[in-house]
Amino acid sequence: MNILVTGANGQLGRELRIVAHESSHHYVFADIVEAEPLSTLLLDITDEAALRHVVDEEDIQVIINCAGFTNVDLAESQPAQAESLNAHAPGLLARIMKERDGLIIHISTDYVFGGAACNTPYREEQEGAPLGVYGASKLHGEQAILASGAECIILRTAWLYSPFGRNFLKTMLQLTATRDRVNVVFDQVGTPTYALDLAQTTASIVENYSKWRLARQQAERYPKAGIYHYTGEGLCSWYDFAHEIASLANHTACEVLPCHSDEFPSPVRRPAYSVLDKTKIKETFGLRIPHWTDSLRRCMAQMEAKNLKAE
Ligand SMILES: NC(=O)c1ccc[n+]([C@@H]2O[C@H](COP(=O)([O-])OP(=O)(O)OC[C@H]3O[C@@H](n4cnc5c(N)ncnc54)[C@H](OP(=O)(O)O)[C@@H]3O)[C@@H](O)[C@H]2O)c1
Repeated sequence: MNILVTGANGQLGRELRIVAHESSHHYVFADIVEAEPLSTLLLDITDEAALRHVVDEEDIQVIINCAGFTNVDLAESQPAQAESLNAHAPGLLARIMKERDGLIIHISTDYVFGGAACNTPYREEQEGAPLGVYGASKLHGEQAILASGAECIILRTAWLYSPFGRNFLKTMLQLTATRDRVNVVFDQVGTPTYALDLAQTTASIVENYSKWRLARQQAERYPKAGIYHYTGEGLCSWYDFAHEIASLANHTACEVLPCHSDEFPSPVRRPAYSVLDKTKIKETFGLRIPHWTDSLRRCMAQMEAKNLKAE
């Protein structure tokens, strides 16, 4: 199968590049800008003509959409851009896959929830109630994909980190190495997710789909299509996450202290509780998901081995 990965120079896209080495399928990695030394097909997913050209030229059967307007604060002042990239473009990708009888795998977020009080893990079927523009645009993206009628897997994830790009892990490594004290909010609870774990899960879903596609005379639709939640196992506050990072990095000279969200003024309110229930993805695809602390340890060891801290 030919698989197009959009947003391939972002955190998740870069981990998919690593995982794809082990696949027998042909992966095409595209992004809106180059990121040397990665080889990248230039593609803006809001440009329908360019998108159709690439999908036809490469004879694509699966799109993994990792592209997104991911700056949650900036989305508040640029709602049209957020909607274009997070809602309209995924709808277009899905319609193109529907026309070609293919599959779209789309990455969504825990931020589709948070507007309604909740203190138990969110299930896939719970109604979305976003708090800000970013979450609303991602929810609209899910709705556009579902409305297209395409075979789709929508993976909602949360608190992504990796050795690549900008993320909480890298910020905390830098702050706890250089400061005596760091205040981190303890009143927002969720689950960190190592982008490599999510990339491996995504690749295993592609393998499952390719096997089904080969033998699908009996069934017209991919029986496993739908919305799934995927994060690390367990839960923590941002404070706990930062504390674990500093401890694993042996940054003992820095004191990590808990504080309240209102000490960090932000243009957008973030969910106080955004833990996702992963029972469905574990049962459907037979997955075992690592605890977030084990994944964090693996990621930091990987960064140490490859000296990626400063990237
Ligand atoms: N990061 C998180 O904590 C988190 C949590 C939950 C869900 N998610 C979702 O997971 C997905 C992947 O997240 P990530 O952290 O890997 O994102 P990321 O690192 O921000 O990567 C997104 C990539 O998409 C590219 N892009 C931007 N506009 C584009 C366009 N018009 N056409 C094609 N590519 C474009 C970006 O390029 P530029 O950098 O040049 O803009 C970037 O390389 C996103 O859909 C995000 O909403 C993320």
